[in-house]
Amino acid sequence: MKSIVIYFSYSGNTKELAKVAAERTHSDICELISPEPLPEDLQVLHDNVVDSKLYPDKRREPLPLPFDPARYAVFIIGSPLWLGTYPDFFISYLQSIDWRGRKVFPFVSFGGTKGNYFEKLKEICKGASVDQPLEMHSSRIPGEAEEFELWLDRINKFTWNIK
Ligand SMILES: Cc1cc2nc3c(=O)[nH]c(=O)nc-3n(C[C@H](O)[C@H](O)[C@H](O)COP(=O)(O)O)c2cc1C
Repeated sequence: MKSIVIYFSYSGNTKELAKVAAERTHSDICELISPEPLPEDLQVLHDNVVDSKLYPDKRREPLPLPFDPARYAVFIIGSPLWLGTYPDFFISYLQSIDWRGRKVFPFVSFGGTKGNYFEKLKEICKGASVDQPLEMHSSRIPGEAEEFELWLDRINKFTWNIK
């Protein structure tokens, strides 16, 4: 059964986890990028994210994916947390997938406060079986984190059992 790691990363932490996860679970990998260029200045980015949360003026349409989701049964989904949740455009990508009958292994990279992102994810992935998320603080090195290893083992056991 095919699996894929899909992820977004602004400053590289999630990307590092995503690459190791894809390698160790023998999954395909796809980076999802923002449809609009993101500011390089962290403060400007932060202000933009706050604005879009305070004034959610544009209801986003689902964004087309750069791969065919019908080919995959297992989705390993990674993102940084922005204001406690997923970036808006990341959610729009996830909304393009028919989640029925799929298995989801979420992981997030965060720097301090975790919000209600997991509730949001479960709401989007209607019909999927969504595993407990792996939450990696940005100060942790994935190779040294025992919970990262255990999480990879869990994914591998799952994909092995459904082969
Ligand atoms: C705009 C913005 C908002 C953020 N908001 C949060 C937050 O609410 N909670 C948190 O724990 N970390 C927050 N962070 C920190 C990131 O989640 C953290 O640095 C993460 O490891 C970045 O992953 P990346 O390198 O893959 O982009 C925020 C970072 C940015 C740029």
